[in-house]
Amino acid sequence: MVTASGGGHGRVALVTGASRGIGAACAGALLEDGWQVVFAARDAARTTAAVEACTASEAQRARALAAAVDVGDPASVDDLFSIIRSRYGRLDLLFNNAGVFPPHRPVDEVSDTDWRDAVRTNVDGMFYVMQRAFRLMKSQRPQGGRIINNGSLAAYAPRPESVAYTATKHAVLGLTRAAALDGRAHGIAVGQIDIGNAATAMTAHVEGGALQADGSMRPETRLDLAHIAATVREIARMPNDVNVLSVTILPTTMPFVGRG
Ligand SMILES: NC(=O)c1ccc[n+]([C@@H]2O[C@H](COP(=O)([O-])OP(=O)(O)OC[C@H]3O[C@@H](n4cnc5c(N)ncnc54)[C@H](OP(=O)(O)O)[C@@H]3O)[C@@H](O)[C@H]2O)c1
Repeated sequence: MVTASGGGHGRVALVTGASRGIGAACAGALLEDGWQVVFAARDAARTTAAVEACTASEAQRARALAAAVDVGDPASVDDLFSIIRSRYGRLDLLFNNAGVFPPHRPVDEVSDTDWRDAVRTNVDGMFYVMQRAFRLMKSQRPQGGRIINNGSLAAYAPRPESVAYTATKHAVLGLTRAAALDGRAHGIAVGQIDIGNAATAMTAHVEGGALQADGSMRPETRLDLAHIAATVREIARMPNDVNVLSVTILPTTMPFVGRG
């Protein structure tokens, strides 16, 4: 079993979708904050590269692990948790972040493949990882932990031509609330971060113009990932008897509040 090293505090975090974007930024911030961090995503080479990019010293590198997982495949998620159990014996934090945004299409033009892909990753995957984390957190001693699901503003309000993303992110809200209720008895705090326009590949197009609810195209600004990483890091620092059930972080000018 791995113990605290390199100035760390020994607590163990798993971040899914950590090969790039929000996941990599948050995993890096947790590493800086002393966590032992499992970076997980499908592309093993890119995940290893993300670990290398996030680690400022050998001591930090010793607290990081790159692991391959396909969150939509329960057997793959089980394999990941076998590694976590045997290497660390516990899990204190899950940032359940892996997700996909299928191509924008009106409802009638969404392909079955894009629909299935969104449900498989954003709902099935969120559930499989959250459930396995919940089982470990419930069984470990000391009992408990924290789960932060990555929702979206789309968990509350759709963008045009985004039925698969919107439906799956609405489902994340249900996963969060139901698990928060079940977690109470076991010291497991389950909450959700809802982000608007983070500066990742997923939103590369919005600065050039994003389709609005009234049919117009309008450029939108994006958030620096450092602000999201700082938010996740602060929530992660809290004791497990404090739950941040919901936090929304978005560019101040983003058309969300006030129906536009
Ligand atoms: N960017 C935004 O403005 C924004 C806003 C609201 C919510 N979000 C949410 O934030 C999360 C991350 O978004 P992002 O912008 O950072 O996206 P991104 O840059 O496209 O990164 C997505 C990450 O998820 C991983 N992933 C995708 N499918 C996976 C699977 N089946 N199994 C394991 N890992 C998988 C990807 O790695 P591999 O391809 O290597 O597997 C990658 O590391 C998503 O849940 C997204 O819905 C983003």
